[in-house]
Amino acid sequence: MSDDVGAQRLLVRDLAQLATPAGSDAPLRGDALSEVEVVDDAFILCEGGRIVSAGPMRGLEAALGGGRDGIEELDGRGLCAVPGLVDCHTHACFGGDRVAEFELRATGASYEELHAAGGGILATVSATRAAGEDGLAEAVRRHRGWMRRAGTTTFEAKSGYGLDLETELASLRAIRSAGGTPTWLGAHAVPPEFDGPDEYLDFALTEVLPEAARVAVATDVFVEEGAFSVEQARRYLEACRGAGLALRLHGDQFTELGAIPLAIELGARSVDHLEATAEDGVRALAASDVTAVLLPASALYLGRPMPPGRALVDAGAAVAIATDFNPGSAFCESLPLVTSLTVTQLHLTPAEALSACTVNAAHVLGRAGELGRIAPGYAADLVLLNAPDWRYLSYHLAGPVVAAVIEAGEVTWRAAGAADEPAGRR
Ligand code: NIG
Ligand code: FE
Repeated sequence: MSDDVGAQRLLVRDLAQLATPAGSDAPLRGDALSEVEVVDDAFILCEGGRIVSAGPMRGLEAALGGGRDGIEELDGRGLCAVPGLVDCHTHACFGGDRVAEFELRATGASYEELHAAGGGILATVSATRAAGEDGLAEAVRRHRGWMRRAGTTTFEAKSGYGLDLETELASLRAIRSAGGTPTWLGAHAVPPEFDGPDEYLDFALTEVLPEAARVAVATDVFVEEGAFSVEQARRYLEACRGAGLALRLHGDQFTELGAIPLAIELGARSVDHLEATAEDGVRALAASDVTAVLLPASALYLGRPMPPGRALVDAGAAVAIATDFNPGSAFCESLPLVTSLTVTQLHLTPAEALSACTVNAAHVLGRAGELGRIAPGYAADLVLLNAPDWRYLSYHLAGPVVAAVIEAGEVTWRAAGAADEPAGRR
């Protein structure tokens, strides 16, 4: 993008529909999660990187105030606009791949067995340490490009594949320089040079936390057998909170160890995964301010049970969805695909899925009120869907639904074939 990002005015006109989570609250829960406002034959006017006006075409002239000078126009005929998608949980900074492990899993090896044998996350730790800062920056930029083509305009990414001072900091810087929101996942696994989790945490909290807290905005911990216990996670999270980081947890992915009560006790932003969460956990989360971040692509990829999405929404929990993009458990950067899984596997409606990957995901990143809605004052981040109805976002399973992506009022990506013509001409 140019230096004067968003300085000019952009008009997207004649859209078949625009669809946006309604209201101004965040996070949305219960019935409010499905309140999506749909406007047929719509326009969106952007200026200075923000949305200034949006509504039916009959209101366009009044919104323009008589002048079209200096306005870039985009023909939205045949397209639907939704807010730019927000991916609030990825592990986009890594070296190498795990394609050989992917094949092994197909022949019967389990994810947990590979992890226990020093493969899995630790295999990616070796490749990430070997990649160097430039290699990591290049990897995050490449992954960020994949996400953008799938409609993601804001992404969070975690470190956690370095687990030494140099590589953790290089990872956080690479994420920030690619435009991502960095989360320090200092407690992802115990690296091989340490005897156990407590020794490793002594090092991470003394040597890495003070530096990581200068770059990251949040921290995360993997609470799981073979990773970190609830007691270890409490120690880690309390220290991170003291350094000013927002708290997040990987919890109940395979085993219900108590990540939800810990998240609530410490006032965490989110607890993510929840494939193993039972009724008590659902009830506790629903009565709390902690957002449940559901990652159905990860459950699908590992052949695990799906998290209890419908039960969480019905109980009144704040729910967001994300890709969990990583080289092992979810090599998938597509939020549209995740919305399809959310509808077909978690039994949320298309409207609930849209709210979960826009305004509620923005809330998890501490950016609700700024991202995730098509409304005046919000960032001019939009996805134009190549579809007659916005619900194609989740309806078209792995389909080519994204026609164009707009970030801060500038078109940053168009589908092939649309490069030399307005995105709406079909
Ligand atoms: O969220 N479960 C922990 N971490 C990642 C997977 C990391 C990996 O397999 O490389 C997750 O699924
Ligand atoms: Fe994850």
